[in-house]
Amino acid sequence: MARILLAEDNDVLREMTKTVLQLDGHEVLTAPDGDQALKLFQQTLPDLIVSDIGMPVMDGYELLDSVRQLPQGVAVPFLFLSAYSERQDVRQARNLGADDYLFKPFDMRELLEAVRTRLERRRAALLFDTREAHLQTIILLANLIEARDAYTRGHVERVQQLALKLGRALAWPVEELATLEYGALLHDVGKITTPEAILNKPGGLTAEEVQIMRAHTTAGAAILRGVSHLECAVPFALYHHERWDGGGYPAGLAGLKIPREGRLMAIVDVFDALTTDRSYHQGQSVPQVLEIIQRDAGKYFDPQMVGVFLSLFPAA
Ligand SMILES: [Fe+2]
Repeated sequence: MARILLAEDNDVLREMTKTVLQLDGHEVLTAPDGDQALKLFQQTLPDLIVSDIGMPVMDGYELLDSVRQLPQGVAVPFLFLSAYSERQDVRQARNLGADDYLFKPFDMRELLEAVRTRLERRRAALLFDTREAHLQTIILLANLIEARDAYTRGHVERVQQLALKLGRALAWPVEELATLEYGALLHDVGKITTPEAILNKPGGLTAEEVQIMRAHTTAGAAILRGVSHLECAVPFALYHHERWDGGGYPAGLAGLKIPREGRLMAIVDVFDALTTDRSYHQGQSVPQVLEIIQRDAGKYFDPQMVGVFLSLFPAA
């Protein structure tokens, strides 16, 4: 169901069109001219506008132009209903930013079809915009955390890309890939609680420092649990340091008891860590690191996942 604004000066046609749209489940607001339609638009912010071209006081072109000047009207779908004699003007309507037009007399099924298509596209675009903005905010957050760690610059985004590749190769369902997209970015979010002196310490850590460092997994999970739309990312933060043989942290889970998010992250995280320079070691070549990962399959890593991971590097 959507809220539709209908501007039409012909009373009979307006009432008829209104009824058809209502029967299709929409809420319909009507106006007999462009001026009243514009006022209604500002008051009610409809999802779509259906408008006649020739109307008194303010015609359809002016209405379209005025709506497009408003920040909240830039992307609202706009459908013109025009008389056959106004056919030449349709090009003008297109240039002004109309999304579609129907010639009178039009078939009501045609109108419903046009309305449905426009609304669907609008919903898809809105969903995409929100998702994109959401991801950008997460990237910003991940980069802020990473900035504290001098040796891991670029790490989170590289890990995210590689994690996505592996997730696709493992044929994870789309919804899980969507969670993976931000879960991989946020796997180390708990490092916000790790002191910089420990993060950037060259050489070995004391037993106490190791404990503090390891706490970034549980701290990350606690941070993500507080945000309803990020909660799905908890397993990435919590389990990415678990080991297949049960020797990892924080839970010491083994084998398939480790959630798949953790098993996947463990491989890509270690791959990126070993191929890049860190405070405690020099980066190694890709073939060298793949060899290490293969050697540690069944010990640190899920052997089946490792097999798929290696297939991502056919040339190495
Ligand atoms: Fe980590």
